[in-house]
Amino acid sequence: MKIAMFSTKGYDRTFFDAVNEEAGHEIKYFESRLTPETSSLVEGFEAVCAFVNDQVDREVLETLSERGVELVALRSAGFNHVDLQAAQSLGITVARVPAYSPHAVAEHTLALILGLNRQTHRAYNRVRERNFALDGLLGFDLHGKTVGIIGTGQIGTVFAGLMSGFGCELLASDPYPNEECRELGVEFVDRGELFERSHIISLHCPLTPETHHMIDDVAIERMKKGVMIVNTSRGAIIDTRAVIEGLKSEKIGHLGLDVYEEEADLFFEDLSDRVIQDDIFARLLTFPNVLITGHQGFFTREALTNIAETTLANVTAYETGDGTLHRLDPEEVKA
Ligand code: NAI
Repeated sequence: MKIAMFSTKGYDRTFFDAVNEEAGHEIKYFESRLTPETSSLVEGFEAVCAFVNDQVDREVLETLSERGVELVALRSAGFNHVDLQAAQSLGITVARVPAYSPHAVAEHTLALILGLNRQTHRAYNRVRERNFALDGLLGFDLHGKTVGIIGTGQIGTVFAGLMSGFGCELLASDPYPNEECRELGVEFVDRGELFERSHIISLHCPLTPETHHMIDDVAIERMKKGVMIVNTSRGAIIDTRAVIEGLKSEKIGHLGLDVYEEEADLFFEDLSDRVIQDDIFARLLTFPNVLITGHQGFFTREALTNIAETTLANVTAYETGDGTLHRLDPEEVKA
């Protein structure tokens, strides 16, 4: 099939070209994001491949449909940026990569926790300046601390296993408690109790209307003083203004983010010679106890290989109708 792939970087080309040697599709790589302005580029393509910050709303889907696109193959697990109802009504099939190395994101979450706790990013800069003083770098033992996991799907479960290895007490909240987590010693509790008891809270649920701004001022109020919050899931699960207030009042002791609610205008680009226009993000950058990475949780060799393989397998499955397509059905998603 002819695939128009948006928001592509050199690394996407490397991994997709390697997998496509066998899959044999015709891929055109566009660097630009998929937006109403760029959606008309899809003339002559049957499939569009989109990433996390591409706009796949009704307006864009209508243009894709008019231009003859039949399939939107997401090269991500999250699909909160897609209007599935609109796609269904326009007869466009949407597929995703339901699982690709949950280890990649779970391990990156751990990197944020360890980095924040032991301040390795600050220590690195100090040592380069031959400042070997330790003041301000005091951490805590992870052993014996309570870690609250919101969302125990594939990533949350791998993360639970990692934290169990550190000797942490594990709590979780998920509408569908998971047996593998229970076997690891995870105690399923309601979200409020998790907020009250956890020293570290890590988010691994999808962004939905129910989880939007789940971490707001009311939630933060219930948390322990000095709590560490880590979000490697989707930015808008956190109300950023509320966490800024929580950081200023020192209720929040550490914040680790791999995602940000307005990341579409920032992440994946080199903006080092530009002025940041987003004052909320700029404020986040001023805190010494905030560690931000630019949506790199998925960025391992293994995950990129899995993503390319599953995305192209989805396109092939759509073409052949062999029943292996990872299709997103709005009705199933709602259920
Ligand atoms: P998954 O679908 O395996 O697990 C999600 C879990 O969240 C499920 O168990 C579900 O029952 C639970 N959940 C749904 N609503 C909830 C709620 N209101 N409260 C608590 N739990 C709830 O998804 P997976 O693969 O573990 O990914 C989780 C999220 O991680 C994705 O939705 C995506 O947003 C994010 N992600 C981030 C990446 C990154 O690079 N930073 C890469 C891949 C995924």
